[in-house]
Amino acid sequence: MAAQFLRLLDVSHRVGGRTVLRKLNLTLSERRIGIIGRNGSGKSMLVRCLNGLIIPKEGRVMLGDLSTARHARTIRRHVGMVFQSVEQQLIMPTVAEDVAFGLRSLALSRAEAKQAVDAILAELGIAHLAERPVAELSGGEKRLVTLAGVLVMRPDHLVLDEPMTGLDHYQRRCLSERLLGLPQQVIMVSHELDYLAQFDRVIALHEGEVVLDGSPESTISAWKQRYG
Ligand SMILES: Nc1ncnc2c1ncn2[C@@H]1O[C@H](COP(=O)(O)OP(=O)(O)OP(=O)(O)O)[C@@H](O)[C@H]1O
Ligand SMILES: [Mg+2]
Repeated sequence: MAAQFLRLLDVSHRVGGRTVLRKLNLTLSERRIGIIGRNGSGKSMLVRCLNGLIIPKEGRVMLGDLSTARHARTIRRHVGMVFQSVEQQLIMPTVAEDVAFGLRSLALSRAEAKQAVDAILAELGIAHLAERPVAELSGGEKRLVTLAGVLVMRPDHLVLDEPMTGLDHYQRRCLSERLLGLPQQVIMVSHELDYLAQFDRVIALHEGEVVLDGSPESTISAWKQRYG
């Protein structure tokens, strides 16, 4: 399949009368894209637009020729999303069931689904959690399970909203390396500026607007001076 870019065309969004995204025009073509900004600057709103969880009040969000307003379900198959809050993402009673949940839509056999789940749990170093109740996991363990649930679907685009939150140093290092090695596009909201220095592009939001956009060096140094 030819590369399909996510694009935002004149996107503005309001919640409760307040403008939270302003006139965003972005073509997200690089393989590794970081999104930075102060708390409340609109980062989570922006990434939620990318898979149609939020349909902006103005403008369009497209994946190739498809718009999220009309094709959110199709787009979600290609755009995997790890939310900022893990509680929003865990649905099923046990870890293995939760990670397998999304696979139901992919028409795999039971054996294939189990194999895919076992493989992703092993890759993330959490095979020992497979039969544990999700509700009993620690915060970091929950985060790894949400990641497994999205990675197991092998989406073409992976959108992650502060995925390192709550992870210990070892898990951060593992996840950092893993994300850089993935074949998929990674779009990641993060406050970890040193890590984003390895990305291809960094976009900074401030009060719902794109205020900086370019190489990690240029965006991060200017952002630290003006907003950091
Ligand atoms: N459900 C909501 N109702 C009203 N306003 C909201 C709602 N959700 C978010 N907002 C507002 O939208 C703005 C952007 O929020 P958003 O969650 O995108 O910020 P963020 O950049 O992700 O911040 P953080 O770094 O704290 O996660 C904030 O001013 C927030 O108060
Ligand atoms: Mg956020």
